[in-house]
Amino acid sequence: MNKVFIETYGCQMNVNDSEVVLSILQKAGYARCDTLDQADLILVNTCSVRDNAEQRVLGRLDVFRQEKKRRGGVVVGVLGCMAQRLKEKLLENPAVDLVAGPDAYRDLPRLVEAVTASGKQLNTILSHEETYGDIAPVRMDAGGVSAFISIMRGCNNVCSYCIVPFVRGAERSRDPESIVREAAALIQGGYKEISLLGQNVDSYCWKNPEDPSVRVDFAGLLERVALLDPKVRIRFATSHPKDMGDAVLHVMARYPNICKHIHLPVQSGSNVMLERMNRKYTREHYLERISRIREILPDCSVTTDVIAGFSGETDEDHEATMSLFRQVRYDSAFMFQYSERPGTKASRHYLDDVPLAVKTARLSEIIALQNEISLENNSRCIGQCYEVLVEGPSKRSEEELMGRTSQNRTCVFPARGHKAGEYVTVRVLSCTSATLRCEVVE
Ligand code: SAH
Ligand code: SF4
Ligand code: F3S
Repeated sequence: MNKVFIETYGCQMNVNDSEVVLSILQKAGYARCDTLDQADLILVNTCSVRDNAEQRVLGRLDVFRQEKKRRGGVVVGVLGCMAQRLKEKLLENPAVDLVAGPDAYRDLPRLVEAVTASGKQLNTILSHEETYGDIAPVRMDAGGVSAFISIMRGCNNVCSYCIVPFVRGAERSRDPESIVREAAALIQGGYKEISLLGQNVDSYCWKNPEDPSVRVDFAGLLERVALLDPKVRIRFATSHPKDMGDAVLHVMARYPNICKHIHLPVQSGSNVMLERMNRKYTREHYLERISRIREILPDCSVTTDVIAGFSGETDEDHEATMSLFRQVRYDSAFMFQYSERPGTKASRHYLDDVPLAVKTARLSEIIALQNEISLENNSRCIGQCYEVLVEGPSKRSEEELMGRTSQNRTCVFPARGHKAGEYVTVRVLSCTSATLRCEVVE
């Protein structure tokens, strides 16, 4: 049997795509392997969101080239967002035999065969319909605790800095029946946590092709998935400040198994930057959404993404981001410095004019502030009890377990015979900005 090795970069949706790819290849007679040296087919599923994500993949391609030199007959394929962005250019790399974009995975078995018969292959056709809705992803961690379900693909927003709409194509929502079926099958298979994924889950909208007046929105879908099993946790990402309405907050409030955590990327605290980023909301609107979350879901944590040093960002704009962080007091944040992406609106119309040293300094300032806030927020958990879902051993020790609270806070505690997949009540003893140290409450 042919063996495939797959390595994944980028977001959770890419991880889920790799699982779809494995499913397609398994049907075509491939078995997955965990090490490079066993593989007949080496695949790398790539990310284009920032330049450093692409640089890492280019480094890996050099390693794959060595492996090809060492053993004949190995096929190397580049999948995902970089494949879509760079197309033929990637085929110039001697390591690469095939290039397949995010909507071309059904074609993979044919592409691989064609490589053997007639050399390098490429398929980067984007689709308006493909959702892989009928494909049951082969889970990376078979028998695991937590699984992803992509509920939609692509993105219709054109944030001026962002490559995603170009490499993922137009937004499409997947048939809710296939989503609910997949969730039910996961629960049957023992999974205890399901994460619903989309670039902007709040714009999920499925129209019945037979009767377009019948629609399912994200609040409706979330409720259907939550109703499957009260002992199974539901998470979702990413929410968009311009589209997140109250309906979804009310559904979250009604179902204890929907985790009380919202990832609500702000990108900047300055209205001038938000306008230039084409985010379609203001700082005031964003803060109003935060107030609504706190009102309807008092125990909900909020996390964010932010970009430092976008085109034209002044000290004043940066201060606006800092003050917004102080005001919102996020539980954690993914913080990036602006990386210009070729072909985006920003690359065509705005200068990447914030010097690298300034970008880096601003980013460090935001990180330092957020670390302080995360630590303060976590300190407030000391002495409290939480139900955590155990995910497995902690990074440091086999005698310790790691699990997360509904609010997505990471807890570490002595194992005491508990194991992955169990719900355990813990009391928080101490904390860092990233972790709560706990004891099990029997
Ligand atoms: N769909 C999500 C985010 C997708 S990309 C949303 O709309 O929020 C994940 C994060 O990468 C973004 O939230 C943004 O903070 C960051 N990002 C995207 N493009 C970037 C760029 N060109 N430079 C730096 N960070 C970027
Ligand atoms: Fe990119 Fe904006 Fe779409 Fe998010 S919503 S993926 S940041 S274009
Ligand atoms: Fe990266 Fe593509 Fe996801 S660009 S962040 S892997 S959608």
